[in-house]
Amino acid sequence: MSESELPLPHLTIKGKRIRVPIVQGGMGVGVSLHLLASAVAREGGVGIVSSACLDRLVSKRTGKKLTTYEAAYNEVSLSKAAGGYAGINIMVALVRDYESSVRGAIDAGADVIISGAGLPLGLPSIQPPRDTALIPIVSSARALELICKKWEKLGYRPDATVLEGPLAGGHLGFKIDSIDLESNTLERLLPPVKDMAIKYGDFPVIVAGGIYTHDDIVRFLKMGADGVQMGTRFLATEESSASPLYKQAVIDATEEDIIVAHKPGSPCGLPFRIIKQSPMYLSALKRLREPKCDKGYVLLKDAEGKFSRCPAKESNETAFCICNGLLSSAGYNSDEEEPLYTVGTNAYRVDRIVPVKTLMDELAGKTALCLP
Ligand SMILES: Cc1cc2nc3c(=O)[nH]c(=O)nc-3n(C[C@H](O)[C@H](O)[C@H](O)COP(=O)(O)O)c2cc1C
Repeated sequence: MSESELPLPHLTIKGKRIRVPIVQGGMGVGVSLHLLASAVAREGGVGIVSSACLDRLVSKRTGKKLTTYEAAYNEVSLSKAAGGYAGINIMVALVRDYESSVRGAIDAGADVIISGAGLPLGLPSIQPPRDTALIPIVSSARALELICKKWEKLGYRPDATVLEGPLAGGHLGFKIDSIDLESNTLERLLPPVKDMAIKYGDFPVIVAGGIYTHDDIVRFLKMGADGVQMGTRFLATEESSASPLYKQAVIDATEEDIIVAHKPGSPCGLPFRIIKQSPMYLSALKRLREPKCDKGYVLLKDAEGKFSRCPAKESNETAFCICNGLLSSAGYNSDEEEPLYTVGTNAYRVDRIVPVKTLMDELAGKTALCLP
């Protein structure tokens, strides 16, 4: 039997048996909403909505002004409505909305909360998670140990962890000059992270970043991973809420078009992978865009702990306006703001948009598509 014919084993998280060990990665802003998450859940994987700017997106869709808590509650509920397992990705960097998003998701009965873009050190203390699995995203065994030690003091252990390597889309947990180091490949990062997970209670390790085919999944499972998280493949599905222009940019992208943005980069301060022709990036690079911040999701705290300004508000020399750029690429205010397209390194291999069912069948090894 060839690897492409091997069935995949199931994945168990917090006592829940997930038939296909594939987690669809949270994709903000507005790319992974309930339409995508529920489709993945129905096919036996774990569907994930992104909490980023969700209040605006759900308020626009419903025509009612919703709070962050209500938006997270609604979107998670809808993701679970047709059955299967679904949850939410909540980024630590979105400090202002973090706790409300967590509360809304737990109250809606999210199966998982996956949290990264910073260390989610206080996650278990926000509210008793009941049946919701708490899953930190890490990029090293060291980060996982820090989290496990902190959570132990709070009387909690991770229910699983996502190990995200440097080939992923969105924000990367690596310094700009260590992204390409051989010591930071997902293959090299996995064994120490797996050992750490065993040390702190033997919870599942889900690997992410650059996984593209069924054979990639089989390879990482053989190396000791318990599941995979995939973003870019789901970005290019019919059910993803990326705008048609965004999906076309993914299809058109060549390997050379995919870069890690740095000066201008993300105001979060983390390296951020994009398609280099993204209009918002080009405008920031050429200083064509008047800096402004009218959204305020990426706020920093000042010395007194008060929310201050986004680094992209004063100038777009070092940071582009990520909120408006990503909102635009999900079709929000796209007539007023230019889009910013984030992708994983493998986006250049995408040559068509497919329904989630077709993709899940292929990834699970039920069908073999002719992929480049
Ligand atoms: C369009 C896009 C948006 C993303 N947004 C987020 C996000 O908001 N939060 C997060 O933790 N990860 C985000 N990611 C990372 C994915 O959840 C996933 O872990 C990663 O992309 C896996 O690598 P792959 O794209 O090579 O499959 C994003 C990825 C993509 C492609």
